[in-house]
Amino acid sequence: MEIETKTNQIKENLEKALKETKDLQSLNELRIIYLGKKGEIQSLMTLMKDATPEEKKELGKAINDIKVYAENNINTLKTKLEVEETNKKLEKEKIDITLPSIKLKTGGSHPVTKMIDKLEELFMSMGYDVVEGPELENDLYNFEMLNLPKGHPARDMQDTFYITEEKLLRTQTSPVQVRTMLANEEKKPLRIVCPGKTYRRDNDDATHTHQFTQFEGLVIDKDISLADLKGTLDLFAKEFFGEDKKTRFRPSYYPFTEPSVEYDVECPKCGGKGCDICKTTGYLTVMGAGMVHPNVLKMSGYDPEVYTGFAFGMGVEKIPMLKYGITDLRNLYTKDIRTLKQFARTEGRD
Ligand code: DAH
Repeated sequence: MEIETKTNQIKENLEKALKETKDLQSLNELRIIYLGKKGEIQSLMTLMKDATPEEKKELGKAINDIKVYAENNINTLKTKLEVEETNKKLEKEKIDITLPSIKLKTGGSHPVTKMIDKLEELFMSMGYDVVEGPELENDLYNFEMLNLPKGHPARDMQDTFYITEEKLLRTQTSPVQVRTMLANEEKKPLRIVCPGKTYRRDNDDATHTHQFTQFEGLVIDKDISLADLKGTLDLFAKEFFGEDKKTRFRPSYYPFTEPSVEYDVECPKCGGKGCDICKTTGYLTVMGAGMVHPNVLKMSGYDPEVYTGFAFGMGVEKIPMLKYGITDLRNLYTKDIRTLKQFARTEGRD
């Protein structure tokens, strides 16, 4: 019974080898040694050569039995090792869901953007439309049709970036007044505000930047008076600077308004006593304003005998500066994120 000795030997060796196998790779090697094409079990087939048909039958059965035995045992160990390996992996990759998460950095709106949003909200609540105009403007709209013909000395008040003889970077948002009046073909009453970027040839310092933001307003209707302008601006001052703040008009000059005024609000820092922010005057100038000049109305097709109007224009950067005591305008436009971060959650109207 040569075959029996051999299969018993194989069984014994395999059992011993399986006991020593601790990982899937070694098990795979073992599988090749025993069950591979040139493996231990396959090599038993050589015994078939000299066997009688009777013996062949027996041999075949014995070889098949040992093959099944080897396959079963190897597969059983394989399953066991696979489970062990998965468990080890899971143990290593365990995630502690109670750990605090990494904080994601969120952005915030720029103080100037916030101010524009709040201004728009306030004026829209009073029935104004928000309109926009181009930053690359025509001399005609930026100056001439605002009662500033070529050679007018008041042009020197606004140092201009000219692109060509006729094209310039707008120095103010006031040309949007002209554009809006011209576009209104039926010459109906108007109530608009316009925020936007403006440019002047200034050397940047604490109180000047070559690019800044304006917020323009224009109302045209029958019987509009300076009192309407004062009432509207006082509403704005209450919202942005506080209920009880005193306000005042000071006479001024703008070619496109007559009369022209500067609008001052009691200093929020010292409450009118005088301090470094208001330069001891007790008031801060917030914007220029006035009654729309009859020439401006006429040039845009409105009959000054029928219609009157008021207009105003403020520097938007000025409001957060006054409110938060920012003394250097450049802080709003340089890249130090720490400055801007402080305003990420502050409200414009508090
Ligand atoms: N455009 C003027 C400026 O940039 C500000 C201004 C003054 C606008 C009076 C107006 C106004 O609409 O009526 O200095």
